[in-house]
Amino acid sequence: MHEIKASAGTDYPDLRTEIAGIAMKNPVTTASGTFSARESGAFYDISQLGAVITKGVSSVAWEGNPPPRIAEAYGGMLNAVGLQNPGVENLVENELEYLKRFDTRVIVNVAGRSVEEYCDAVEMLSDAPVDLLEINISCPNIKEGGIGFGTDPKMAGLVTRAVRKVSKRPFIIKLTPNVSDIADIARAVEAEGADAVSLINTMLGMRIDVHTGKPALRNIMGGLSGPAVKPVAVRMVYQVRRAVRIPIIGLGGIMTGEDAAEFIMAGADAISVGTAALIDPAAPVRIRDELAAFMLKNGYKSIKEIRDGFIG
Ligand SMILES: Cc1cc2nc3c(=O)[nH]c(=O)nc-3n(C[C@H](O)[C@H](O)[C@H](O)COP(=O)(O)O)c2cc1C
Repeated sequence: MHEIKASAGTDYPDLRTEIAGIAMKNPVTTASGTFSARESGAFYDISQLGAVITKGVSSVAWEGNPPPRIAEAYGGMLNAVGLQNPGVENLVENELEYLKRFDTRVIVNVAGRSVEEYCDAVEMLSDAPVDLLEINISCPNIKEGGIGFGTDPKMAGLVTRAVRKVSKRPFIIKLTPNVSDIADIARAVEAEGADAVSLINTMLGMRIDVHTGKPALRNIMGGLSGPAVKPVAVRMVYQVRRAVRIPIIGLGGIMTGEDAAEFIMAGADAISVGTAALIDPAAPVRIRDELAAFMLKNGYKSIKEIRDGFIG
């Protein structure tokens, strides 16, 4: 089990933050699709995280794409999992029930192939023990819906408006980097009532095995994640921060506490750890401790002070 260090000292930095009125003990969350309560919980105490974000869930179970669905790339990986999931009912009975024992915020990532499917899943989650929803309009790995909603400001606005009508809870819209102007999409979802945005989802990529002439992924294309995408993600968080007032969860290639600080300086209120946790399952807690150490070393007393530390 990972120990909470330094927290006893009176000069331990204040890591608290807030997303859409939901107070969090620290800004570290788990990126959707890279966390499972039982598996990750075997490596650290989940209560040490600001929030957990669960794997994308749809109203009914989805099979996902055929294998191979994962490939390595310089500085990252490609995946084309295709949002395989057991459906909302199963998530509520298993993952959410298990998560009740931890003192952390729970954010459920929601997938859909149509506006109706997003709304169905959101309505089914109405009475579940959940603090926030994260609506994924940015998955590059499914044929219909997903990224199609995230690349057009009108469609992004449409989904947001429909979810706003049926959601009893505050919700985050997760944005795709596979657009020419991410600020436009962020403005559209803010205008239709999104409480926060998270970015980035994976970047559309592809690899070919030149020895066989076959694509590395059966799906041919997949989503690139990991440190290779970090500068793109930081740039987009910076652009979105200047375009909207709602809170931002920043992610994309965060491997260390200093990476997390970089996203906060760019304008993020919280961050998510994804691919790093597939390499080191305890990475989210390590990154929280490294962020605290960075703050102590550099005299930052709050997350806001880090954000104000950017003098660009
Ligand atoms: C294997 C895998 C599965 C993922 N599944 C989801 C998902 O279900 N929903 C979602 O919104 N994002 C999903 N993502 C995207 C991540 O949450 C994150 O946006 C992206 O990987 C960038 O962060 P990272 O570089 O820290 O991994 C997935 C990523 C990976 C690598």
